Amino acid sequence: MDIFTAINTRHSEGKVKADELPRDVIEKLLSAGNQAPNHFKIRPWRFVVLTGKGRERFGEQLAAVFRAKFPDVPAEALDKERLKALRAPLIIVVAVDQPVEPKENEVENIAAASAACQNILLAANALGLGSIWRTGDPARDPEIKKFFGFDPGQHLIGFLYIGYRDLVDVQFPARPSFEDRTTWMD
Ligand SMILES: Cc1cc2nc3c(=O)[nH]c(=O)nc-3n(C[C@H](O)[C@H](O)[C@H](O)COP(=O)(O)O)c2cc1C
Repeated sequence: MDIFTAINTRHSEGKVKADELPRDVIEKLLSAGNQAPNHFKIRPWRFVVLTGKGRERFGEQLAAVFRAKFPDVPAEALDKERLKALRAPLIIVVAVDQPVEPKENEVENIAAASAACQNILLAANALGLGSIWRTGDPARDPEIKKFFGFDPGQHLIGFLYIGYRDLVDVQFPARPSFEDRTTWMD
């Protein structure tokens, strides 16, 4: 698939098949993420790869955080939280290193890690996989960050849910043009 097709046909797909992805496919995705531009070549992204039981442990953590916030929630609500981690056979969690040297910059690091996320989504599309970039409250929760080994001050910028495509013949609406977001300075 050429790059423009990969870009123009990428869509968020929340529903994918449960079938596990082979390790070499997952590594291809991580390698694509790792090709992103980054200032000072510091590669400020951190990937945590969740498959199999790793997702179940993440689901338990989602439920635990939810229960801590809302102690009286019914069991069904906790089950719903648990199941969120099972919406795809692969979740790549992406976080950002905090600047270390004075020359480094928080926004630049987030920008680089975001580029890594987009590379992963485009590579997934080129490999015929469906994906969606999710965040929500868990992305900002210190306990969730701790669960993945991140510091509370580190930004967790995405849960990339990826799996074999389950949607067939879905017509995605055309996206608005770039024109109202662009100023030309000739
Ligand atoms: C930083 C970021 C966070 C997102 N978080 C969520 C999310 O929590 N839940 C969700 O359904 N989609 C989330 N999305 C996906 C957007 O909803 C989606 O990209 C948007 O609707 C445009 O659709 P498209 O990806 O098909 O072009 C997120 C996207 C980005 C870039």
